[in-house]
Formats: sequence, C-alpha cells, structure tokens
Amino acid sequence: MTAGSALVTGALGDTGKAICQQLLTDGWEVVVSDILPEEEGAGFVQQLWPTGAATYRHLNVQDAESCLAVVNSIPDLRAYVGNAGIGRPQPFASMDDETLRRQFDVNVSGNVCLARVAAESMRSSSADCSIAFTVSWVGDRPWPELVAYAATKAALHMATRSIALELASIGIRVNAVAPGIVNAGMARTEAERNPGHKQRAGAAVPLGRLQDPQDVAEVVAFLVSKRARNITGSVILVDGGCSLGSF
Ligand SMILES: NC(=O)c1ccc[n+]([C@@H]2O[C@H](COP(=O)([O-])OP(=O)(O)OC[C@H]3O[C@@H](n4cnc5c(N)ncnc54)[C@H](O)[C@@H]3O)[C@@H](O)[C@H]2O)c1
Repeated sequence: MTAGSALVTGALGDTGKAICQQLLTDGWEVVVSDILPEEEGAGFVQQLWPTGAATYRHLNVQDAESCLAVVNSIPDLRAYVGNAGIGRPQPFASMDDETLRRQFDVNVSGNVCLARVAAESMRSSSADCSIAFTVSWVGDRPWPELVAYAATKAALHMATRSIALELASIGIRVNAVAPGIVNAGMARTEAERNPGHKQRAGAAVPLGRLQDPQDVAEVVAFLVSKRARNITGSVILVDGGCSLGSF
C-alpha cells in the first residue's frame, strides 16, 4: 500500500530532488513538478527514478490554470510540498522592481495559490493530508543582498501559520521547513557568483557544516508523514544553528 500521492514543486532542483527521493523511499507516489517542459522533465525523472512511482508534470507555480489542471489530475493527493523558489541577490541600493516582484510572485503567490488548490482537492479526503513549504532561515535573520528574498520567505513563514489555522478544522496540516545554507541549489549558484560567499557562509554555521539537501528532505518527509499527525503551523529550522548568530 502506498502512502498516497505527493506533489512537489521545484522538484528538479537540488533540494527538490532530495525531497522526492525521500518521499519515494517512504512509499509515496510522487508527482515531480518543475518548469522544464513535459518531455524534458519526464526524461530526467525516468533517468533518476526508473521504477515508476515518480511521474513528471510541467508546472509553473505562477500559472494558475496549469496548477489547477495538474492538481485535479492527481488521484488521492495527500501531500503538497511547495518547494519552488528563486533567489536573486542584489544590494538594496541597486535592487530593481521587476526582480523584487518576481521573487514575491514565485516564492509567495505561486506557492500559496497552489496550496489553496491542493487543499481544495484534499478537503474531502478522510486520510491524513498536509502541506509543507520550504522557507528559509533568512526569513528571520537578515543576510547581505537578500532584502527581497528574505522578505518572501518571512511572508511564506507567516502564510504557513495562517493557512494552518484556517485548515485545521478540516484536518489538513500545514508546516514548513526552514533550511540554513544548503550546500547545493541556489546557495551553490551564489557561491559561484560571489567569491566572498563561501567564507561568509562557512563562518555563519555554529555546527560547522553547511546543510545537505538530504537534511532538509528528511524533515519535509517527516512533516508530511503520519508521525507528524499532531503538528501544524510549525516551522522547523534545519540550519545548523545559523539563526542563533555567532559569538
Ligand atoms: N540552497 C539554499 O541554501 C536554500 C536555503 C534555504 C531555503 N532554500 C529554498 O529551498 C528551495 C529549493 O531551492 P534549491 O536551493 O534547491 O534551489 P534550486 O534552484 O536548485 O531549485 C529551485 C527549483 O525551483 C524551480 N522553479 C523556479 N521557478 C519556478 C516556477 N515559477 N514554478 C515552478 N518551479 C520553479 C526551479 O526550476 C528549480 O528546479 C527554494 O524554495 C529555496 O528558496 C534554499
């Protein structure tokens, strides 16, 4: 028996892949979604997970119509993982409006609107259903050149708690994981762009090592599992202590 179907957005990014892998290991049927066109994404999924419990769907979280179509095509949807995200570091003084807006469109509006559609599909289920977002430690602690990105993650953090309150009465749990600096994905892109990033990032983690995507994936998988059946409105930091600050 499977755990049900899980939809993951931004699922072909580094963190997304680890989340999908962990969910598959835990017995979920996983709908792997990302912005790559259908055929290209399906090719990656076939290579990564040839056994068949993972299927690919093209899904841009900014496109409300395709969000609805994808969600409505999934039988027995029990978990939605809103992991899609973009980060565009810019010094505040030269930050441009379009870059600011795009980060809010994807990170907040896209993930939240899709959550509403997913919750509607879960409403009549008698199974444990839940939503998990990927937020960030910088939603709570400033980091240079991340004014817009950090604000989007703070917004998604609060959306998590607000949605959790409204959906509790129909039994849908809503939580988030807040990674620290992950040694992959957008943080790696930033390390390649900015030579000072690696040293700054290394010094920022009290436990002394950057996060692996797997560290994040295991917490997401826990939050959508029945083991978390009494957890809603929680945001779990997986940041090696970054948010504690350093001496
Ligand atoms: N890497 C880090 O250090 C770090 C730290 C904290 C939080 N996060 C968060 O983790 C999540 C995954 O990030 P990552 O580091 O794996 O980066 P990544 O760039 O590897 O993955 C992000 C994925 O989101 C997808 N995406 C972008 N726009 C989209 C859209 N409009 N619709 C659907 N998908 C879209 C991308 O195609 C990509 O596959 C993000 O939400 C990010 O903000 C990352």
